Amino acid sequence: MLTNKTELAAGEGDHEHIEIKPSVLYVGTPVALITSLNPDGTTNISPMSSVWSLFDRVVLGLTSTSKGRENLMRERQLVLNFPSPDLWPKIEAIAPTTGRDPVPPHKEKNGYRFEADKFDVAGLTPQAADLVRPPRIAECPIQFEAEVVAAHSPGAEWPLERPEAFWIVEAKVVRVHAHRDIVIAGTNHIDTSRWSPLLYVFRHYFGTGPDLGRTFKAER
Ligand SMILES: Cc1cc2nc3c(=O)[nH]c(=O)nc-3n(C[C@H](O)[C@H](O)[C@H](O)COP(=O)(O)O)c2cc1C
Repeated sequence: MLTNKTELAAGEGDHEHIEIKPSVLYVGTPVALITSLNPDGTTNISPMSSVWSLFDRVVLGLTSTSKGRENLMRERQLVLNFPSPDLWPKIEAIAPTTGRDPVPPHKEKNGYRFEADKFDVAGLTPQAADLVRPPRIAECPIQFEAEVVAAHSPGAEWPLERPEAFWIVEAKVVRVHAHRDIVIAGTNHIDTSRWSPLLYVFRHYFGTGPDLGRTFKAER
């Protein structure tokens, strides 16, 4: 018979956990589409989800071999475009592509192909930004124009045998655009009953469910 919480935590009863070795640790973060400028002035779109924000900063985890990472570290400018759940097929249409030509060998092995015009492949529309050179994606209800302020390489324990490394990129958001339909009229607030991010959860796409409640600091 269980007598205290320590015994429960040890693996019996309703809170039974087992050790697993998942191939990814993607518990659930929003999908963002980075638009960045290629050296010839055309635009690349990089789907990503390793993103979080604090104050006016966003922090992005980007593999070293991605064209988007190369572009934004050279140009120091990007737009982070946040799609709504219904756009997931468009994102999946460009998921097996890269703006890099030739395709890096480890990506080619995984079925990636080069695409010069991902707007065309996805059926998305470029829309001029105000303060940065890469365009926004018109279909995405929330768009952050941003400037790169720092880029860090991962900590020393990253295994050198991995085929690719990644960078931790910090960007300052300089302008936020939100579609009129998801803004509470006359305010700077997002109407959370009308906005749902597209979430990437263990390599599956999800929207969000019903509102469960709000934190004590919520303004609306
Ligand atoms: C939903 C989704 C989320 C992804 N998240 C990331 C991510 O957070 N960081 C990253 O480097 N790549 C991520 N990828 C993989 C990149 O999209 C992929 O490397 C792509 O080839 C990058 O395009 P680019 O080389 O043209 O920049 C994600 C892909 C998908 C479909």
